[in-house]
Amino acid sequence: MPWDLIQLNDGNAIPSIAFGTWGIGNGQGTVDQVEQAISVGFSHIDTAQVYKNEEEAGRAVRESGLARRDVYITTKYSGLDGLDIETSIHNSLKNLGVEYVDLYLIHHPRVARPDIPTAWAEMETLSEQGLAKSIGVSNFGVDELAVLLASAKIKPAANQILLHPYVYARQAPLLAFDAAHGIVSEAYSALTPITHRPGGPVDEPVNEIAQRLNATADQVLLAWVKAKGAVAVTTSSKKFRLEGYLAAADLKLSTEDVAAIDLAGAKGARRDSFIKGVHVLAKLMLLGAVAFRIYAFLAEM
Ligand SMILES: NC(=O)c1ccc[n+]([C@@H]2O[C@H](COP(=O)([O-])OP(=O)(O)OC[C@H]3O[C@@H](n4cnc5c(N)ncnc54)[C@H](OP(=O)(O)O)[C@@H]3O)[C@@H](O)[C@H]2O)c1
Repeated sequence: MPWDLIQLNDGNAIPSIAFGTWGIGNGQGTVDQVEQAISVGFSHIDTAQVYKNEEEAGRAVRESGLARRDVYITTKYSGLDGLDIETSIHNSLKNLGVEYVDLYLIHHPRVARPDIPTAWAEMETLSEQGLAKSIGVSNFGVDELAVLLASAKIKPAANQILLHPYVYARQAPLLAFDAAHGIVSEAYSALTPITHRPGGPVDEPVNEIAQRLNATADQVLLAWVKAKGAVAVTTSSKKFRLEGYLAAADLKLSTEDVAAIDLAGAKGARRDSFIKGVHVLAKLMLLGAVAFRIYAFLAEM
């Protein structure tokens, strides 16, 4: 299997590419999409309480005919309906129709209530009860991880974060922190340069590499995630694309290729900050002009 297993700090291993179910809805269409992913070779399904399609994901896993141990299931505590962690995982297990999940994540630090140490202690209890083989977090930054680690008996196995070339420069310290603490980073929305930022500076190196390696741009971006040592959490409704994602594990990006993508990403991020700055300035100037008119109007009264 080209997308290797990555060893976790608790002795378990995680498949390094996942099919995600965010934004793919409910019903039979969702079951079909997850089944399609499993049929082309995905063995890691990433869902969440808040995606509201754990039931569909679980049905697809069962209908695939694969043994439970051959499918890796991640779900997340999203703080849905104000439910606590213990109630939520029992609901998720019921929805998924399984006795345990392979990885259970706190979806975001803001749902770690009443605070991170208390929420993490509840996660540790679930792990001790065998309801989750591994426990981890998502969208945690360095400061939040430091708070968690200060009282943790069990270290988080993984931290699922936004990672694509345009945010790489700002996420690099977090990737280093994860690695230094034996936490595996998982990358979501890695295809942002294609899906949300087409025409940005990353296109040039990605398209050049894709052409040279006879690959597609999405494959190059997933190979870039692999080069960063992260688990790729991606998705597609299309079979040909899913097959391409799996084949992307065989793409050999050189150090120079990775550096060219990093550099273009940083350039795009600087451009974003500049544009954001101009927008803020324009808004301030507009507000100033309105305030001046009001002042002038009142002064004439
Ligand atoms: N933990 C969190 O807070 C969090 C947040 C966001 C996402 N996630 C997880 O990550 C998973 C993936 O998130 P994402 O959708 O943002 O990831 P992504 O991997 O960046 O994007 C996937 C999308 O890219 C499109 N795509 C792929 N190649 C393309 C191409 N060459 N041209 C045009 N479109 C292309 C696919 O559309 P087609 O269907 O048309 O192929 C698909 O909808 C989610 O399902 C979820 O499991 C987690």
